[in-house]
Amino acid sequence: MCGIIGYTGKKNSVEVLIEGLKRMEYRGYDSSGIAILNDNNEIVTIKKKGEIQKLINAINDRKYPSHTGIAHTRWATHGEPNDINAHPHSDCKNEISIVHNGIVENFKSLKDYLLSKGHKFVSETDTEIIVHLIEEFAEDNDLLTAVKKALKKIKGTYGLLVISKKLPNTIIAARMGSPLVIGKSDKQMIIASDASAIISHTNQVLYLEEGEIAEITVNDINISNIFSNHITDPKFIEIDMTLEQIEKGGYEHFMLKEIYEQPESIRNTIRGRLDKTNGTIRLNGIKKYINDLKDADRIIITACGTSWHAALLGKYLIENFANIPVEVDYASEFRYRNPIVRKNTVVIAISQSGETADTIAAIYEAKRKNAIVLGICNVIGSTIARITDAGIYMHAGPEIGVASTKAFTSQVTVLLLLAILLGRKHHMSFDEGLHLIKELEKIPDKINEILNSRKYIQKLSKQLYKHTNFLYLGRGFNYPVALEGALKLKEISYIHAEGYPAAEMKHGPIALIDDNMPALVIALKDSIYEKIITNIKEIKARKGHVISIATKGDKEIGSMLKDVIYIPDTFEPMAPLLSIIPLQMISYEIAVLRKLDVDKPRNLAKSVTVE
Ligand code: G6P
Repeated sequence: MCGIIGYTGKKNSVEVLIEGLKRMEYRGYDSSGIAILNDNNEIVTIKKKGEIQKLINAINDRKYPSHTGIAHTRWATHGEPNDINAHPHSDCKNEISIVHNGIVENFKSLKDYLLSKGHKFVSETDTEIIVHLIEEFAEDNDLLTAVKKALKKIKGTYGLLVISKKLPNTIIAARMGSPLVIGKSDKQMIIASDASAIISHTNQVLYLEEGEIAEITVNDINISNIFSNHITDPKFIEIDMTLEQIEKGGYEHFMLKEIYEQPESIRNTIRGRLDKTNGTIRLNGIKKYINDLKDADRIIITACGTSWHAALLGKYLIENFANIPVEVDYASEFRYRNPIVRKNTVVIAISQSGETADTIAAIYEAKRKNAIVLGICNVIGSTIARITDAGIYMHAGPEIGVASTKAFTSQVTVLLLLAILLGRKHHMSFDEGLHLIKELEKIPDKINEILNSRKYIQKLSKQLYKHTNFLYLGRGFNYPVALEGALKLKEISYIHAEGYPAAEMKHGPIALIDDNMPALVIALKDSIYEKIITNIKEIKARKGHVISIATKGDKEIGSMLKDVIYIPDTFEPMAPLLSIIPLQMISYEIAVLRKLDVDKPRNLAKSVTVE
């Protein structure tokens, strides 16, 4: 949520900043802005409500030679999206400018203090407080000291970039609770919220740590701790991310590309982890804690959004294979609920971005209660990957579409791997372990088969896209899939959709059924097939329109229903990896038919770094 970028170097900063903003637009897209130090050493600020193209149009009218600047793409928290509330924000004299990703929780009292000192505010944002605080302290101090003093007064989170006309060709960057990555290449430095904005320039990066502040010039970087002043040696590492991975590669939308990448992303998730000789799984990242997991009285999995749906599947998988009780908690509830964490409780946090504020707070709460906390993340080097005791990377590759697709299937794959590994440590036989591993290897090809049915799904979506309410039903392992399918439709099509355990339907939602309420029912040939067929009959008896996801070769369902999407057969616990694919595809096609911005749905952001 919110992307920030800063540049100082040999190129025209405006071009670099705009390119970076475009790459980070998925982090927020209600307004954007740029502040540069021009050749006369004045700060020029341009800000626009709406998508980044509006900012580009405003900039194109004029020429701005500049080698240092900062920029921001916003997901509004304090103050509605408009030109004034957009970042960057400046001090009273327009000598200092900042961009900020985060929240100032004590902004009201700080604002009152600054007003009493005569500062003038123009926006409704919490961010503007920071720049005026810096201005206040800059009177008697150098800029770095002033920024440190200001940040010590702030309660909340920040990824912050500061420029000042008094310190040309320098950017100050500080981090607390919101990520910042610094990229270094020949005579240039780029600082951004994530590496996607950097990799077209360099793959040498440094992740700023919590509480650190850096003074950055073209040739130099000095890092110290905001609170202790402790100095750290800058250590750059090489990141393994390519430009191709974060571009659309001929697809109309990132979401479509990411749906189609799933055979490959799942292959990457399982690569090197299948141990056929021993019929088990290798997860080196959590090796040290595997016995704690095995002997845990209880595992708590905590996450938000799509990751929470994967967590729910994790419960079904781990309880089924390893017989360990698993609780699943929304991170936002866990953190405030005073959760029970006993000596043998292990907490697992799942997060694609590794930056979700609620999940981070839940991790800290679990740690305060002395739990071992493990992470399942996609973004390498992200906050959650670093604050957890150990973890398992998803290796799904960068996910840009705001609606999560390939991250979900990789999360489920990781949980499947973990469940098999724990199962093998308990009562699962070698044969069963091997059997599962061999089937898992076939999943990518089976997904490819489903992806080939796009034409049929497009046809079906044409029948459906004008409806305003949908029901998604599934049972057992496919119940979390029903929840995730409904979420996908809500997120990108703005259609009301409810996911429900199919049998629960008769305890309420059945009252909603009529011929205007399509029901997408996952009815696979598994242990509860007969039960879900009964649920379908209940809907049909009330004139409901049922669209079913069914197992290839199932004639019975074909004779009952007109609209059936067939998917290949697999083992029941692995079915979610297949049954979710047509649901992702339907949401995508419906959003396209409704002419909506699939990759940037309204009001959402990919990475929610505020609570
Ligand atoms: C946001 C995104 C969702 C995502 C959720 C959790 O709401 O729009 O797609 O599932 O955050 O994100 P995380 O990065 O922690 O998995």
